[in-house]
Amino acid sequence: MEEMLKTIDLWVTADDRQILKGVNFSIKYGEINILFGPNGAGKTSFMMTLMGFPKYKVEQGGIYFKGEDITDKDIYERARLGLGVSFQRPPTVRGVTLRKIIEIISNNGLNKERVIENVEKLNLSGHLDRGLNDGFSGGEMKRSELLQLVVQRPDMVLIDEPESGVDVENIALVGEAINSLLGRDRVKDHKRGAIIITHTGYILDFVNADKGYIIFDGRLVCGGNPRDILSEVKKHGYRRCAECR
Ligand SMILES: Nc1ncnc2c1ncn2[C@@H]1O[C@H](COP(=O)(O)OP(=O)(O)OP(=O)(O)O)[C@@H](O)[C@H]1O
Ligand SMILES: [Mg+2]
Repeated sequence: MEEMLKTIDLWVTADDRQILKGVNFSIKYGEINILFGPNGAGKTSFMMTLMGFPKYKVEQGGIYFKGEDITDKDIYERARLGLGVSFQRPPTVRGVTLRKIIEIISNNGLNKERVIENVEKLNLSGHLDRGLNDGFSGGEMKRSELLQLVVQRPDMVLIDEPESGVDVENIALVGEAINSLLGRDRVKDHKRGAIIITHTGYILDFVNADKGYIIFDGRLVCGGNPRDILSEVKKHGYRRCAECR
């Protein structure tokens, strides 16, 4: 199968700090990949760079999405091409309600009933008329992020730590929402892909992930079965990654 997204020798700085150091990554159409790595390794920076946030400067190398070089494209252009992100720490937007954001995003075609169904599934009916993430608890923010993705339905979803700060019951809600976002349409058109960052691996109970990778000190150091990687990390920590570099 063809690659949906790839990076070639990606070197990235933020505020003059070298963060990514030659990342070669690729993911095929319809694949779900999991990213692991210690705090500060560069996982979030990698996602932000894929999405095109201007703080992350590509010094060398390139990013290709559905056959197009997107290295110099703006965020909105990448979003229009079908990239979507759920943030680790989403911004608060006072004065713009979750309802308004959802209305704008769902203009793409998801019908009203499906939108309402998803709002209810993610337990966010009471949050629609509040400012986006304004005073939302950690778990509520994660669910609001996911709702936006579910409604946007991008071809490639980038999900940064969907389960962090989410309680046990809500992890199931979040996991099932991600699974239906990825699963249902995979059957229909076999094309929606995902990159998911996780520390705990809870999400692996809900999605059928294809591959896992470790980012360590700005480099992709190894890849394999995500459950095997997680169990190795649980046993040995990330210490051994330095040897693989
Ligand atoms: N704008 C910035 N300016 C300077 N340094 C930055 C900036 N953004 C990120 N960094 C640094 O880059 C490194 C990687 O950060 P990043 O957020 O990508 O890590 P991460 O792998 O997502 O970690 P975590 O598991 O804690 O979320 C960190 O040391 C961070 O402080
Ligand atoms: Mg992070």
